[in-house]
Amino acid sequence: MNEPSSPWVDRLWPDPATGLTLDDAMADFGLPPPPGRPLVGVNMVTSIDGRAQLEGTAEGLAGRADRLLMRHYRAAYDAIGSGAGTLRAAGLWLRVGDELAARRAADGRPPNPVGVVIAGSEPVPLDAGWFSRDERRVLIVGRDNPIDTVPDGTELVRASDARPAPRWILSSLEARGIRTFLLEGGPHLNAAFLAAGLIDELYWTVGAHLLGTDALPMIAPIPGGSPYATEPDRGRLVSILRHGDELFLRYRFESIVDRR
Ligand SMILES: NC(=O)c1ccc[n+]([C@@H]2O[C@H](COP(=O)([O-])OP(=O)(O)OC[C@H]3O[C@@H](n4cnc5c(N)ncnc54)[C@H](OP(=O)(O)O)[C@@H]3O)[C@@H](O)[C@H]2O)c1
Repeated sequence: MNEPSSPWVDRLWPDPATGLTLDDAMADFGLPPPPGRPLVGVNMVTSIDGRAQLEGTAEGLAGRADRLLMRHYRAAYDAIGSGAGTLRAAGLWLRVGDELAARRAADGRPPNPVGVVIAGSEPVPLDAGWFSRDERRVLIVGRDNPIDTVPDGTELVRASDARPAPRWILSSLEARGIRTFLLEGGPHLNAAFLAAGLIDELYWTVGAHLLGTDALPMIAPIPGGSPYATEPDRGRLVSILRHGDELFLRYRFESIVDRR
């Protein structure tokens, strides 16, 4: 028997159901309205003990179901972004795959979300494959970044700070028509968004591994101390899917939104 083109998942919460295709499991996936600025989702995979890197990248922390589910999250968003550290470590593939691209196009949307990379002052590898894809790309850099020209099809946006501030990043994206932004790490950029109180949704894949390493967690320690160290905010569990030994959790964080 051929392997089904979409892995089966069980929905553990809400409305438990077994043997769903990803299409069925994600049929009701919708985003809340943007809260007066682009809505921010964060999508990360970790080991059971919370490590977001395996030998320096996220590869191998989870399997094919995670990669396919990630495309569904992406397809719901206007733009998908990563920090330059992630691009430097492993390259980027911020796309949704042919089937979801065709569905987006049929809905009058660009086939792939806008790709966004965010750098500070260090060089960006302009030979990375990300710069040769056909989706619209925005490269946001800090004030002192040495970059001056970018490959065709990439818009270069320069911040007035050494590191682009998350709220400024969102305003820049909003000015380009982006109302929903999916941040796919890495841990340091996630930390900057958390510090600014700008994480609305979290998609967390728990890969079935225990690592016991000192690799980065999903969110790096916030420089200068976390505002949540003594008063942590509570997320609301929206859904849990399962494929084999892997869990896919969705949380919403209305309570921390724009708190800072
Ligand atoms: N498990 C997962 O789901 C997952 C997802 C993504 C990445 N990863 C892994 O995480 C690692 C990379 O993560 P990372 O934390 O080192 O890098 P990162 O968060 O991807 O990028 C950090 C870089 O972003 C730039 N930046 C721009 N504005 C910033 C701001 N306001 N605050 C902080 N940084 C800002 C800085 O660039 P400059 O250096 O130019 O100043 C900084 O070095 C890789 O190993 C990658 O494979 C895992």
